[in-house]
Amino acid sequence: MSNKVVLKADNLHKHYPVSQGLGKAKAYVKALNGVSFELQAGKTLAVVGESGCGKSTLARQLTLIEEPTDGELFINDEATTGYSRKALKELRTEIQMVFQNPYGSLNPRHTIGYQLTEPLDIHTKLSKDDKRDKINEMMRNVGLRPEHAGRYPHMFSGGQRQRIALARAMMLNPKIVVADEPTSALDVSIQAQVLNLFMDLQDEYRTAYVFLTQSVGRTSCR
Ligand SMILES: Nc1ncnc2c1ncn2[C@@H]1O[C@H](COP(=O)(O)OP(=O)(O)O)[C@@H](O)[C@H]1O
Ligand SMILES: [Mg+2]
Repeated sequence: MSNKVVLKADNLHKHYPVSQGLGKAKAYVKALNGVSFELQAGKTLAVVGESGCGKSTLARQLTLIEEPTDGELFINDEATTGYSRKALKELRTEIQMVFQNPYGSLNPRHTIGYQLTEPLDIHTKLSKDDKRDKINEMMRNVGLRPEHAGRYPHMFSGGQRQRIALARAMMLNPKIVVADEPTSALDVSIQAQVLNLFMDLQDEYRTAYVFLTQSVGRTSCR
């Protein structure tokens, strides 16, 4: 197994300007102050910290939702700052995000089938049949049946919704998935199941994970 580095953060900073009122000096919230790490293909990096320590800020920089104030992020050895929109669109397929609340990534007005098809429509030229096969495969992978495709997010439990959000994140076989407290909104009895699912998918697809969490007790890392 190669141990290629798929994600590298080099001294990432994110400072948000905050308004102090007219005439006052500009102030900043220093949400990230020099974060560096390397993550190899198929491995997990756990980032553990209390609420407000900058986990979600880090997640937004890693998934290219925001641009860091300073430092550089490399995905597959490619530096990501100053990239054109088109190049970013391609890089974004390599790194996907799972949010604490699956409603953050699932649209309540569209069926599950529609939402799993969407990434394939945008980023691939697969035929209709190939798309359906891929969706059915991924639904089975996350413990859902193909006939669930016609249902809407509110018709599922919280744990099932998080499975669907993970299925959606995995549709394009990303090299990296960033999971921001993916189980903290779930019942304790469901948390272990969802974590096991993350690990099964990692074995199957060799995805690297960045797991952002408030407590190590609830995550099992390797
Ligand atoms: N867009 C923003 N503007 C200003 N401050 C922000 C913004 N986003 C986050 N912060 C601040 O950055 C810090 C880290 O927040 P966050 O990344 O959400 O932490 P966590 O996810 O670990 O709870 C907090 O002090 C938060 O108030
Ligand atoms: Mg957060």
